[in-house]
Amino acid sequence: MRKQIAAANWKMNLSLAEAESLTKEIIKSEISVSSDQLVLLAVPFPYLEKVQILTAGNPAFAVAAQNCAATKNGAYTGEVSAQMLMGMSIPYVLIGHSERREYFHEDHNILTSKVDLALESNLNIIFCCGEPLFIREAGNQNSYVEAQLKESLFHLSEPAMKNVIIAYEPIWAIGTGKTASSEQAQEIHAHIRHVISKQYGETVAQSISILYGGSVKASNAAEIFSKPDVDGGLVGGASLVATEFTGIINSLKR
Ligand code: PGA
Repeated sequence: MRKQIAAANWKMNLSLAEAESLTKEIIKSEISVSSDQLVLLAVPFPYLEKVQILTAGNPAFAVAAQNCAATKNGAYTGEVSAQMLMGMSIPYVLIGHSERREYFHEDHNILTSKVDLALESNLNIIFCCGEPLFIREAGNQNSYVEAQLKESLFHLSEPAMKNVIIAYEPIWAIGTGKTASSEQAQEIHAHIRHVISKQYGETVAQSISILYGGSVKASNAAEIFSKPDVDGGLVGGASLVATEFTGIINSLKR
C-alpha cells in the first residue's frame, strides 16, 4: 500500500529556537502515525541537522531539504548539492516547488537535472507540480500538469520512478487561503495517476503517493485526504503551528 504522508514545508521561516521548539512540540503531541504513514519535515538547510537529531529514532518522521542544486559540484557559490544532502543522510528533497519555478526561474531543464542528481544520490524526491489560475479558469489544468510531469520526470526508469512522490499544488491555492475542493483535488490526482499508469503501468501508478498542497489546514485536511487518490498533503503556513500540523497528521487516511 502506498504511504499516506503529511509533509511540512517551512519555507524560509522560523528562527533556530522556534524550529527546535516546533519540532519538539510535534513529536510530543498526541499523534498516531501507523507504519503506512509518514511525517516529512522540509526545513531550511541550516536546520536540517538539528531537526534530524530531534527526530532520530522515530520512524514516523523523516527530514527533507527544500531544494538542491542542478549541478553536481563546483564553483556555484551558495548552492547545496544533492550529494551533500546524501552525505548528511537526508532522505528526501523537494523539487520544482512553484516558488522555485517562479522566483528562481527554474524551468524543466533545470528541474530535470535536479531530479537526476537527486536520484543518483539516492534521495527520494517530492516533485511539485500545479497550474496557475488562468490555466484553471480555462479548464486546461490536466494537460498543464501532465506536461510538467512528462518534461521533468518521465525520462526516469521504472525503478527510479518508485523513489518519487508527487505533490500537486495549484498555484492559486498556495498561501492564499483558497483551497481546491476535495472534488477538484480528486479529479486531478486521478488524472495524474492515470498518466503515470500509461507511462509506467498500473502497479507503479498505484504505489506512488500523490499529495495535495495549497492552504491545507487542520479544519479541511480530513475532507481532502478522504479522497481515494489524495495520499496526504504538502503544507506551508499551517505547518508552522504545532496544533494545526498535528491536526493535519491525524487527518491522514488509515
Ligand atoms: P500553503 O503552502 O499551505 O501555505 O498554501 C503550501 C506549499 O507551498 O507547499
